[in-house]
Amino acid sequence: MIEIISGTDRPNSRTLTVAKHLLDLYRGLKADVNLIDLNQLNLADLASGEYYKGPGESYKNAVARVTEAQGIVLVVPEYNGSYPGILKLFIDYWRYPETFEHRPIAMVGLGTRWGGLRPVEHLQQALGYRNAYVYPNRVFLSHIKELLKDGSLKDQSLLDLLDVQARGFMKYIHALEQQHMDANSIRKNKPS
Ligand SMILES: Cc1cc2nc3c(=O)[nH]c(=O)nc-3n(C[C@H](O)[C@H](O)[C@H](O)COP(=O)(O)O)c2cc1C
Repeated sequence: MIEIISGTDRPNSRTLTVAKHLLDLYRGLKADVNLIDLNQLNLADLASGEYYKGPGESYKNAVARVTEAQGIVLVVPEYNGSYPGILKLFIDYWRYPETFEHRPIAMVGLGTRWGGLRPVEHLQQALGYRNAYVYPNRVFLSHIKELLKDGSLKDQSLLDLLDVQARGFMKYIHALEQQHMDANSIRKNKPS
C-alpha cells in the first residue's frame, strides 16, 4: 500500500486538494493507495503524549499504516519557512528504525513563491538522517492559491510533473522490492 499523507490539519487546506489529486492519479496507475488526512485525526492523541509508548488511537493507527507502507507520498505546505508543526509532531511518533529505515518516500511541496522548497528540504534532512529512501524527483507547486483558484489543479505542465513523479516512484518502489532492499522486505528477512 502507498500512503499519501496530507501534511497539515488546517481545515479546507490546499494540501488536501493536492493530496486528493494524487490519490486519483495513483489509483489511475493501478496502485494500492490510501490517504492519511491529518485533519481527520484527533490532535489530543498526540499532544502531551508519551513518545516512546506511542500516540493515542487515531494516530496510532496512522503510524501503523505508515510503518507497513510500501511507500509514502508526503504532500507538504510551507508554514513559516518550514513544514507544519503538526507534521513534525506526527513524525516524532514514527518508530525508529521500523518506520523510517529504507522506507521509500516521495515529496510534493506547495507554497507561495518557492513552492514548498524549504519544507521539502527540511524533511529531506530529517528523513535522510533516519535513513529513509527519499525519492529524488520532487515536485514544487508555487503560488498555490492561484493554481487552485478554480478548485483543482489545471496547469498541464504541473499535472505532467506529478504524473512523471508518480510513475517513477512506483517503479522505484518496485525496483527496491525486487532486490529486497525496501523497508518491508528488510524487516521480513531480518533474523529475529
Ligand atoms: C501558518 C502559515 C504560514 C505560512 N507561511 C508561509 C511561508 O513561510 N512561505 C510561503 O511560501 N507560504 C506560506 N504560507 C502560505 C501557504 O504555503 C499556502 O497558503 C498554502 O496553501 C498552505 O497550505 P494549506 O492550504 O494546506 O494550509 C503560510 C500559510 C500558513 C497558514
